[in-house]
Amino acid sequence: MDPGSSISQTAKYLCRAGYGILASDESTATMNKRLAKTGLDGSLETRRAYRELFYCADIGKYISGAILFKEMLVQKDSTSQPFTTCLVAQGVLPGIKADEGLEAIASGAKSKEETHTKGLDSLKEACQEYRRQGARFAKWRAALKISADTPSELAISMNAAELGKYARICQDCGLVPIVEPEILIDGEHGMRESSEAAERVLVACFQALREQAADLGGMLLKPQMIIPGSEFTGPKPSSRAIAEETLRVMRKCVPPEVPGIMFLSGGQTEVEATANLDAINRLASEQGGAPWALTFSYGRALQSSVLDIWSKDRSKVAEAQQMAAALAAANGAASVGQWDGQHPSVLSSSQSLLETFRGWNAQPALQAQ
Ligand code: 13P
Repeated sequence: MDPGSSISQTAKYLCRAGYGILASDESTATMNKRLAKTGLDGSLETRRAYRELFYCADIGKYISGAILFKEMLVQKDSTSQPFTTCLVAQGVLPGIKADEGLEAIASGAKSKEETHTKGLDSLKEACQEYRRQGARFAKWRAALKISADTPSELAISMNAAELGKYARICQDCGLVPIVEPEILIDGEHGMRESSEAAERVLVACFQALREQAADLGGMLLKPQMIIPGSEFTGPKPSSRAIAEETLRVMRKCVPPEVPGIMFLSGGQTEVEATANLDAINRLASEQGGAPWALTFSYGRALQSSVLDIWSKDRSKVAEAQQMAAALAAANGAASVGQWDGQHPSVLSSSQSLLETFRGWNAQPALQAQ
């Protein structure tokens, strides 16, 4: 398929059947924390070599786009070929993390863990430059925390307004915006609180997008699935129950003009992220289909086993790349409800991918993606 030149063609290309997005746009701070956890140094060269694993792996059969952090948009592989060239050669469109991280809402929020996203002031010039550097799409992450009195109306409306403005600026610059209102997994909430928060957040986001006259056919939505919080103590819902609730909320809140819903993995294990995506697609087809593609834009769920292999032995590049392709293949199958139940993950099922530093609880870490 040709990625086309209009934003609506590009958006459709990114979410075409059997494909999803590799979210590899962790900020330098987040990436260095992940590397440090495995014993690797956080130098630019280590980050570059780690990214090369993915961008030069055989991922183009299942991956339609890769979101890059800005330092990587201009980086080269070890043969001096720009990463953007390696990606485009296998049909993977380069995208860019366009936001500048989170910061606490200065006043009026219900908790100091409530944040909004920085970067709007310089966004237009930045997007023009990213487009010149080869990016075809962008991502902006808002993070909303569930607790007894959050997300507050203020946090919801402020983040929705920023997402709406960001989307419009991207589209004006020829980039497809990925609109990411992430409901954080952190917390004790159950499925009901997760659904209620998601509905409030999604309704506000689409209202803001309409206020900005954003083209809903030229954007992609990147939500969290409806899952319980990481500290929920009740019974664990099945993939089927997650699929039912996720589809119910998406059908209620996401307009049919939007071509694709690209879920984030958000702290689920690699296996859960694949199993839940597969269940969502199986259920959608039992229900007669859905108006949008239901696929993935995963970070941790496409990378964690790869980093595990490579960090234990940096000479195992080929093995790490085979893992990158295998994780992409499993999720590509899940994105059309055809995952066979075999998962390539080398991580134990109890190994959590939760990262509480990702943006809400400590001031210095608010830079993190
Ligand atoms: P995870 O899949 O690791 O949640 O990352 C997706 C992402 O891009 C979050 O901003």
